[in-house]
Amino acid sequence: MKRLLALTAAAFLALPLTPATASPAGTPGAPSAGDPYFPGQGNGGYDTRHYDLTLDYDPASGRLSGRAAISAQATQALSRFNLDLADTLTVRSVTVDGRPASFTQSGSELVVTPARTLHDRRGFSVVVRYDGTPAHVLDPDGSMDGWIKTGDGVYNANEPQGALTWYPGNHHMTDKATYRFTVTVPADRVAVANGDLVRRTSKGGRATYEWNAREPMASYLATVSIGTFDLTDRRVGRYRVTTAVDPQARGDATGFAERHPPVLDYFGELFGRYPYSSTGGIVDNAPEVGYALETQTRPLYPRVPSESLLAHELAHQWFGDSVTPTLWRDIWLNEGFATYAEWLWADKLGTRTVQAAFDEAYARPADDEFWQTPTADPGGPENLFHDPVYDRGAMTLHALRGATGDAAFFAILRAWAREHRYGNADTAAFISLAERVSGKDLGALFDAWLFKPGKPAL
Ligand code: ARG
Ligand code: ZN
Repeated sequence: MKRLLALTAAAFLALPLTPATASPAGTPGAPSAGDPYFPGQGNGGYDTRHYDLTLDYDPASGRLSGRAAISAQATQALSRFNLDLADTLTVRSVTVDGRPASFTQSGSELVVTPARTLHDRRGFSVVVRYDGTPAHVLDPDGSMDGWIKTGDGVYNANEPQGALTWYPGNHHMTDKATYRFTVTVPADRVAVANGDLVRRTSKGGRATYEWNAREPMASYLATVSIGTFDLTDRRVGRYRVTTAVDPQARGDATGFAERHPPVLDYFGELFGRYPYSSTGGIVDNAPEVGYALETQTRPLYPRVPSESLLAHELAHQWFGDSVTPTLWRDIWLNEGFATYAEWLWADKLGTRTVQAAFDEAYARPADDEFWQTPTADPGGPENLFHDPVYDRGAMTLHALRGATGDAAFFAILRAWAREHRYGNADTAAFISLAERVSGKDLGALFDAWLFKPGKPAL
């Protein structure tokens, strides 16, 4: 929704820049959001507001056909603009404000030239019809990302770059939007997405699931996961809990829905109220993927999650999903916070104290490679999910808590969640908020824990 990102990396990328004074005819939108870790991600010149995705998927053939209706607002006079979409998908037609637009696909850029120039600050709508056989991508760290096929459907996890494997969009996390999903699959499969389940209908051996994600969402947090799931949707305590569990999933799924409210209630006390209208989880049987993801409102798990994995993904709903980083190098704001929340939940359960968790992580010898990665920038996209991002990130928060005391520390976490709800924020914003709320100069602490390589002294 809000685009907070300046095109700082544009010069670095040597991409064509929009002149400061656009001609009345408009100029092309930038082909990138300017994130140095993923220079291809996102586009300039507009801001998306809403995606209405209508998808039809056949797991047997792997064929997807889709219609993406995107509402956006121009942020400059636009002669042309880009969307991100993998070239394994073929675009059949594009309209802008109902008129046919010309388009080309070049790599994962879909370049759209509307029949008429789009005026600055005016809303417009784009409809893209496309089809093909989506394929996952491999991330710089070698992990699978995107439309990942399973034995019975799709494990759809899109952090950091998989969203372009299944729908066209402005795929950088600074452009959040609301979503509606209408997904048709064979009647013996279930299609689970983010937000509230609106309805399920069936006709001629096919079932259609509609989902409404009414709070803004970054596209890496969107999911349409498909499989032979047991779907439940009911009120548990104060929450609408919607779960989808693959009967083949390893682990004991008994009481899976009931496990959510205690965690959410506790985090609600610590971080401020839960930011979404529904919750739940998708438990697939996907050992080949191996990782879970905090897909908004409804995390995705490759097996029945442990208590600490459940707490991790639910904590991300505040830290990562509602408050989202501005650049990928700020990923510790997601993973460090979610790891610290795991420690808090284990402490609450009486399994291990936060201090014991910190001590264990801190016990790594000073010459361990681990200490060479500064928390605030893991050094490149291949290190996005390295241990230091998680553990040193969590230790940073514990060090902060030691310096400020509990009252100020939790006030900082609540202010962070409240002031940036549904938005984006970076490490500098966190530091200044921590100093403001605590009234302390925390420069030396953050310098040692966030920016300098080496093991910080206690
Ligand atoms: N954010 C996820 C988590 O820590 C990890 C995602 C990993 N993604 C990947 N492509 N390896 O919960
Ligand atoms: Zn995480």
